[in-house]
Amino acid sequence: MPILIDAAKRVLVQGITGREGATRTQLMLDYGTRVVAGVTPGKGGQTVRGVPVFDTVNEANETTGPIDASVLFMPAPLVKAAALEAIASGIKLLVLVPDRVPLYDVLEIAAAAQANGAQFVGPNTLGVLSPGQGVLGMMGGRAASASQWAIPGPVGITSRSGGMTTSTAYYLAQAGIGASTIVHVGGDGVVGLTHADVLRLFEADPQTRAVFMFGEIGTAQEEDAAALIEAGEFTKPLIAFIGGKAARSGMRFSHAGAIIEGGRGTHEAKVARLREAGAHLVERFADIPAVTQAVLAELDARTTAKPEATKPITELHWKTAITQIRPNEIRLRGHRIDRLMGRIGFSQAIFLALTGELPGPEVGRLLDAILVSSIDHGATPPSALAARTAASTGAPFNAALAAGLLSINQHHGGAIEACMGVIREALDSARHQPDAFPQAAAGVIEAYRGAGKRLPGFGHRIHTADPRTARLRQLAASLGLAGDGLAMLGALEEALAAQTGRPLPANVDGAIAAVLVDLNMPSELANTFFMMARLPGLVAHVHEEITRERPMRAIHPTDHEYDGPLYPD
Ligand SMILES: CC(C)(COP(=O)(O)OP(=O)(O)OC[C@H]1O[C@@H](n2cnc3c(N)ncnc32)[C@H](O)[C@@H]1OP(=O)(O)O)[C@@H](O)C(=O)NCCC(=O)NCCS
Repeated sequence: MPILIDAAKRVLVQGITGREGATRTQLMLDYGTRVVAGVTPGKGGQTVRGVPVFDTVNEANETTGPIDASVLFMPAPLVKAAALEAIASGIKLLVLVPDRVPLYDVLEIAAAAQANGAQFVGPNTLGVLSPGQGVLGMMGGRAASASQWAIPGPVGITSRSGGMTTSTAYYLAQAGIGASTIVHVGGDGVVGLTHADVLRLFEADPQTRAVFMFGEIGTAQEEDAAALIEAGEFTKPLIAFIGGKAARSGMRFSHAGAIIEGGRGTHEAKVARLREAGAHLVERFADIPAVTQAVLAELDARTTAKPEATKPITELHWKTAITQIRPNEIRLRGHRIDRLMGRIGFSQAIFLALTGELPGPEVGRLLDAILVSSIDHGATPPSALAARTAASTGAPFNAALAAGLLSINQHHGGAIEACMGVIREALDSARHQPDAFPQAAAGVIEAYRGAGKRLPGFGHRIHTADPRTARLRQLAASLGLAGDGLAMLGALEEALAAQTGRPLPANVDGAIAAVLVDLNMPSELANTFFMMARLPGLVAHVHEEITRERPMRAIHPTDHEYDGPLYPD
């Protein structure tokens, strides 16, 4: 299936009786587009090239049946009224062909489209063409000549230049490479569908295997496309050419949107950004077919060179959804490691490895805070003592660290998992309805106390108000990641104070538990967060033990003092 237009879509032409509207309607029909109606106020009742004309879009909609897309052909000052009428009538895709549509009109159209779940291409666009299916707008000219360069195939094309849209399709067709859909997003500074929006559509389109993007200087469209790749929302190969290499600051290049201002939107910046995201940048326009061919060949090689995948499952054949290794390609949960490197933080990579989801930087920051909070808490805790004791016997690093890790258990680090269980139990009992949190919290605490059990994640031997708890709460809130888990933690604190008659605030384990609940982390992984956090701290202890202390010393568990530097808070 192509995107945006296919042979089944029912199309309206607004301005159908005008010079361009009538001519283009004929060409769209000749190409096979299903033009079912036209609109020109005051000209209802006529027909244009056999297509019935109506006075209003509502009338066209009601008489001919629901319309999928409307193409607008009227002078620029009249576009806003026509577009708002189509959007109000419920049409979900508009193609605004005219150029010089006032910027504020486009912003108004965009607001109306967003409010009504509609999309628009342009303004100042040639339109959209899906080879062999249909065309919206002015793309392609006569059907006979369009069929020379618009052949169906696996490459999606998105372009900010009208001329280059069709030229690219032409050169690709000469090399035997067809297109799924060809989209001219328009040359203005503000347009409806941007490159990134079109990439999202191509991502979901099974026919499209790779995309060619013709970018230009000015606007952030190409940078947004790079960000989309980096966010894992566009995963197909992207071949890109950026026009305007010779342009300098202040120079306008061809289109209203193609302008470099104050160093923003430059050719170099766009090329660098896209390269960093892993796109295939083409330096010379003439090289586009060869690069595209190579990209498609690589895709073919990948799909054919997978004998293991097609082998019948035997006892020796097992599956993993974590990593995939091929010559020169290492993937974690489907993402290329080399593309993740330098782009995401270690905590984001941990989240990806554990859940298969590539999180945003906010989740990374919150997990960082958890890991930092637990990296060490003294030489007395069993893990540090065990690691130091093993190290003092002459055990190598791996053995000493293992001794430390082996002592992280139910009673050392285990409170996080247990507290996640408590929070989830209370949330289930409240059916996640915030109104019911206090009652559910009180019920869970009553049950624990009734059974004589200690509530994990609350109270501390030393700290009456654990500063790490407050910091995690504040961070989660400011990053927009505080959810039901943290809200329930608060409800549990209140219920506990009410039932015991003294405050017993959540400790850092409780706060971590609540954050992990809000991040949808399985409870059974909770203790591993503690281990991951603590490992570097243990490395430091083992290293200090080996390099500073004598072997086989008697290590007193509490009688030690800090002699390192102290920094201001
Ligand atoms: C869009 C454009 C082609 C229209 O030009 P045109 O066809 O010569 O304009 P016309 O005045 O003949 O026709 C417009 C028609 O729309 C009608 N119209 C006006 N407002 C309307 C509305 N709200 N709803 C429906 N029709 C409307 C007019 O009544 C007129 O029809 P009529 O002549 O039968 O009265 C032209 O304005 C334009 O922008 N051209 C450049 C396009 C371009 O280069 N795009 C970018 C490609 S890279």
